[in-house]
Amino acid sequence: MSENEATRLETDRELVGIVAVAENGVIGKDGDMPWHIPDDLQHFKETTMGHPIIMGRVTYEGILEALGEPLPGRTTIVLTGRDLETPENAVIAGDLEDALEKAERAARERHGDTDRIFVAGGATVYDQFLPALDRLIVTEIADDPDGDTRFPDWDREAFDEVSRDDRDGFAFLEYSRLE
Ligand SMILES: NC(=O)c1ccc[n+]([C@@H]2O[C@H](COP(=O)([O-])OP(=O)(O)OC[C@H]3O[C@@H](n4cnc5c(N)ncnc54)[C@H](OP(=O)(O)O)[C@@H]3O)[C@@H](O)[C@H]2O)c1
Repeated sequence: MSENEATRLETDRELVGIVAVAENGVIGKDGDMPWHIPDDLQHFKETTMGHPIIMGRVTYEGILEALGEPLPGRTTIVLTGRDLETPENAVIAGDLEDALEKAERAARERHGDTDRIFVAGGATVYDQFLPALDRLIVTEIADDPDGDTRFPDWDREAFDEVSRDDRDGFAFLEYSRLE
């Protein structure tokens, strides 16, 4: 998808990317994340709880494998070209517009009209949504792990770093798109 197509994605809600990324750009390995940081999982849970969350099919299947179910307390919108059966708190979407429409509906009907929709990867999904994101919540992992999936290049100039919380071996950052 070109930048123009992505920026045509319309929603009044804040579109928020959330990612944990290593210093070398790695975000995934073999369908999973190459680290286990309980504080970051907790941060992800607290941040996304009660909101719709858009993700690619590979990321979704990784979560199903780990948890046995989609993320509880959220509605997962799974981007896929496949005809997947999903449980009640997940729904498939065939393209970005469809994903956003279904996220809008979930926000309205299931999440008290929440004003945030999350975009939770993987690399293919970040890549397509990045030009449309209003905010990016990043966990920087101070490591250079092996991996097969990397966070795409993004236009840092278009964002302002609005917070940074340094922890032991990682940091929570938040970027907001400049007006
Ligand atoms: N560190 C982090 O914060 C983080 C976050 C998320 C994921 N990850 C990691 O990233 C890796 C997965 O990322 P990935 O890039 O390989 O896969 P992905 O983005 O999770 O999923 C790719 C799949 O999504 C579907 N898709 C993507 N764009 C679409 C579109 N516009 N329309 C319809 N379907 C679309 C396609 O599914 P079909 O093939 O079914 O058509 C595609 O094969 C895993 O290792 C995961 O653990 C890390």
